[in-house]
Amino acid sequence: MYFIANWKMFGDLRTLNSLDKVIKFSKTDKKKKFKLIYCPPNTLIRPLSKRLKKTKIEVGAQNCHESDNPGAYTGHVNSKMLKNVGAKYLILGHSENRQAGENDKLINLKVKSGIKAGLKVIFCIGETLKEKKNKKTNQVLARQIKRGLKSIKKKSKLIIAYEPVWSIGTGLIPKPEDLIKTVSFIKKKLGKTSPKVLYGGSVNSVSVSQLKDISSIDGFLIGGASQDPKKFIDIIKKIYN
Ligand code: 13P
Repeated sequence: MYFIANWKMFGDLRTLNSLDKVIKFSKTDKKKKFKLIYCPPNTLIRPLSKRLKKTKIEVGAQNCHESDNPGAYTGHVNSKMLKNVGAKYLILGHSENRQAGENDKLINLKVKSGIKAGLKVIFCIGETLKEKKNKKTNQVLARQIKRGLKSIKKKSKLIIAYEPVWSIGTGLIPKPEDLIKTVSFIKKKLGKTSPKVLYGGSVNSVSVSQLKDISSIDGFLIGGASQDPKKFIDIIKKIYN
């Protein structure tokens, strides 16, 4: 079961001290039931991966430039650079970036560059509230998968994160019966060797109680609650208790 922390644009060097609690907690997992991955801002990838070196917790990045090669792209980093400083995973297609203008075609280029650099891509998909109300969820997800993963051969190596836009940071989560149907739809779309499918959007130690019995979900992508070690640990504890 994956527990992936997306810190978004939060955290500085001091924040890393708070991770000792999570490191200690991760050592209690003798049977390797869960996999913890931290995706901090780029500024923290190197220090965080150094700090987590002797642990089983891994580090990822939150986005990249689509070019495999260095170039005159002020303010950007590419997937090779992220790999070079310790990232093993790469979140792409997050709705916050889609809303900021990233389209399926651009995301597809980024997915290809991430895979080429040897990063494990966490590919985010999800519908807006309007699309949900108009009963367009499956249509939107199918489009995001088809275009965003165009020409990607080994889809089973990806991690898909289903994050309804309306549930991110709002405290709202889908009804379990809707989520079961949507996850099954996503897995069907991805074929026989379906990748892991995670859920993201307002996951916390309370909401997770409603999500934990959905056996088709392979883990969670957690925003707000992942910045507080206690809240993050509480979510994991709720799953296994
Ligand atoms: P919240 O958990 O804060 O709703 O954010 C979810 C998210 O966007 C993770 O990528």
